Order: sequence, then C-alpha cells, then structure tokens
Amino acid sequence: MQNLKDKPALVTGAARGQGLAEAKLLAERGARVVIGDVLEADGAAAVETLRAEGLDVRFIKLDVSSEADWDAAHALFRDTYGRLDILVNNAGIINRTSIRDTSLEAWQRLIDINLTGAFIGIKRMADLLAEGGGASVINISSNSAFSGHYDPAYTASKWALRGLTRAAAMEFAPANIRVNAVCPGLVVTGLNATAPHLQPMIAMTPLKRAASVEEIAHLVAYLASDEAAFVTGEDFLIDGGFIAGAAYRRVSVESGLYPE
Ligand SMILES: NC(=O)c1ccc[n+]([C@@H]2O[C@H](COP(=O)([O-])OP(=O)(O)OC[C@H]3O[C@@H](n4cnc5c(N)ncnc54)[C@H](O)[C@@H]3O)[C@@H](O)[C@H]2O)c1
Repeated sequence: MQNLKDKPALVTGAARGQGLAEAKLLAERGARVVIGDVLEADGAAAVETLRAEGLDVRFIKLDVSSEADWDAAHALFRDTYGRLDILVNNAGIINRTSIRDTSLEAWQRLIDINLTGAFIGIKRMADLLAEGGGASVINISSNSAFSGHYDPAYTASKWALRGLTRAAAMEFAPANIRVNAVCPGLVVTGLNATAPHLQPMIAMTPLKRAASVEEIAHLVAYLASDEAAFVTGEDFLIDGGFIAGAAYRRVSVESGLYPE
C-alpha cells in the first residue's frame, strides 16, 4: 500500500523504538522520511538498514528541545522537498522518580523534550506544513495522560501534550493541518526495558500483553494518511484496554465476578 506516496515526513526520536517502527512503516507506505534524533550512531545505522530495503529515509541530528536544531530541520525540508506533510512528535524521555525525588533540573529537562519539543516543532514547521495544502501532525502522548502515573514530570508532560494537540488542531484547521495525539500503553522499548513495572503492568492490562512497536506505527500511519482526512484534535488510546477499565476488571476478578 503506497497511500503516503511522496509525502515528506519527519519522525522525531526515531533512531530506535516506536519512532523507528513509525519511520519504517511511513516509508513503506511511500513517504520520504527523515529520522530526527540525538542518537547519531543509532540513527545512521537505522538509515543504512532501511535504505538497504529500498526505503527513502535519511537522518538529521535533531535535539527537539533546541530551536537551532529545528531551524536546521526546517532548512532541510524547505530546500529538499519544499514542504512537510507528516510531522510525528515522538521523542520522549522518562525520569521514573517521585515528586520528592525529582530535581527542578530533571523536571525542566523532561518538559523541554516531551512537551516544549513538540511545541517548537509545530511552531517552526507550520509554514512548511501548510505548503502542501494539507498535513498531519501526530503527537505521541501516553495512556498516563489519562491517569496519575508515578512519574510526575512524565505524567504532566503527556497530559499537556493532549492540550497542545487540541490547541494546535484549532489554530491550524484553516490550513488543513490536522493534529492528533496517540496515547500508547505499555510498549517494551529502550525507554523501559529494565523498568520494574513491566510484569505488573502486563498482568493488569486486559489484553494481557504489551503493544508491539508495529501496532503503534499502524495507528500513526492511519492518522498520517488521507483516510483520516476528517480526524483532528483527538486523542487515541492504544493500550489493550488499560484505561478503559483495568482497575474495575481487577476488582471484578478479585471479587470472583470474572475469571482471570
Ligand atoms: N514505551 C512505552 O511504554 C511508552 C508508552 C507510552 C508512550 N511512550 C512514548 O513513546 C515515545 C517513544 O518512546 P519509546 O518507547 O520508543 O522509547 P525509546 O527510548 O526507545 O525512544 C525514544 C527516542 O527519543 C529520542 N530522544 C530522547 N531525547 C531526545 C531529544 N532531546 N531530541 C530528539 N530525540 C530524543 C531517544 O534518543 C530515542 O531514540 C516517547 O514519547 C514515549 O514517552 C512510550
């Protein structure tokens, strides 16, 4: 399926993990993809692998919290493609510390990357997003944006991304730039591979597993496509039913109302 043929696309934080799977799927659908990340060696290796598969992919060093780096990304898209049709604000970090144990510096750094990075990206690329007559911005939030996750900075950044998504969707609708948020549950990646909560989280998830990176990428590819032409300002949970009722389900199991 080549439903993204020749659409210039930028996926941030795509040297590995979900971003890499999203970059790959967008490219397989025909998009001309730029991977932006701070991991230059991983990014270069990813590009080499994807190009060997015949995909149109390149890398740019992009720290999403740096306005100067966004200026360079803007120049790349302006000079190479003349426009930007798909922007996936995927880059993110986690502190995994409580409020008591989070320094102001660590709080600020996380907010700079997870939230302000998406803000700068949309602001800086807005003219190129409007250039093609229609574009799609996808902000990767989290299902922690529907609850009280144990990392306060992470939770706050992901809730705020939902707000930024709606504000941007309203501002840019006249330019036919759609803005949506994807809110995954557990996906096992470099972000959390050694975290202690994986098994408890899987046990609580109604579908009893983590998502694959490809499953998240398919939702991103849908939102990037013209099939989603009337979809904007929306949050999409993709979490195996966790937010839909995992706590009540657990209560029901423990009360003997449901089987495990
Ligand atoms: N893994 C999960 O369970 C999960 C669940 C919900 C949401 N998310 C979100 O999905 C997104 C992707 O995470 P992942 O699970 O693939 O983790 P990951 O750690 O494998 O990927 C994150 C990527 O972001 C990059 N990055 C970090 N700081 C950056 C910066 N300043 N500028 C540019 N790139 C930067 C990293 O180098 C890395 O390549 C993140 O926004 C994360 O918060 C993850």
